[in-house]
Amino acid sequence: MSGSPVVVEASADRVVVTLNRPDVRNAIDQRMVDDLHELCGTLESDPRVLLIRGSGGTFAAGADIAQLRERRRDDALRGINSGLFDRVRRLPMPTIALVEGYALGGGAELAYACDFRLGTPTTKIGNPEPGLGILAAAGGTWRLAELVGEPVAKEILLAGRVLDADEAHTLRLLNEVVAADDLPAAGHRWADRITASAPIAVRLTKALFHAPRDAHPLIDDVAQAVLFEATEKHDRMTAFLERRKEKK
Ligand code: COA
Repeated sequence: MSGSPVVVEASADRVVVTLNRPDVRNAIDQRMVDDLHELCGTLESDPRVLLIRGSGGTFAAGADIAQLRERRRDDALRGINSGLFDRVRRLPMPTIALVEGYALGGGAELAYACDFRLGTPTTKIGNPEPGLGILAAAGGTWRLAELVGEPVAKEILLAGRVLDADEAHTLRLLNEVVAADDLPAAGHRWADRITASAPIAVRLTKALFHAPRDAHPLIDDVAQAVLFEATEKHDRMTAFLERRKEKK
């Protein structure tokens, strides 16, 4: 991805992507959307944990307003950000947003689409879209209420409330708050906890978590049936039982 507004560092079990337009507070432009789609494609075919961070002390200050100003009806209907964030939400393995500084507008919605959000004392999360004459159409109007409940979601969406790190942590919109220097390491600690489990079991759990209510419990039984047939289940349970025997 030469000249890309994102920097990707990949390893065997995880990928770290840095939104890298610090001069404009990592505003999400079309090129960034395209490059993140490309990354999603890679992670769909080779599932790994995804960590998303911003450069220069900001997560992302929303969609690029210079581009946004020129967009018309058909651009909105293409779902530029909503389509990308939906794809991020559906990635097979868990996703972690490392939210240092501002996560506003589309930046906040990208963080909402992730499974986990870690912050720092400077984190500020909000959806100022109505102030620009538009709405939070990339997940804000519905996903935020799922995360923090209707009262706080309405404060953010309708009354311009911006949450600081403490408030967001109290609401568990941020799963953890750490010093800025520790944020990358904290992200890797969460990734380590995820990858310590059987990847296929984590993947299926994430998929089932978001499955429609009516699909349960059959879909759970079918997924469990798949796991029961995997050697990894037998190996992990044998290791547990052997360790107990050794302790005796
Ligand atoms: N789109 C395009 N450019 C943006 C941007 C965005 N979403 N957010 C910031 N920028 C640009 C600014 O225009 C400025 O450019 P300049 O240096 O050419 O003047 C540069 O980034 C730095 O922004 P600035 O406002 O000076 O930084 P700050 O640290 O004082 O404030 C924010 C940071 C995030 C509070 C502020 O930039 C802001 O409110 N951004 C817009 C947030 C928003 O409304 N997002 C929703 C979009 S739908």
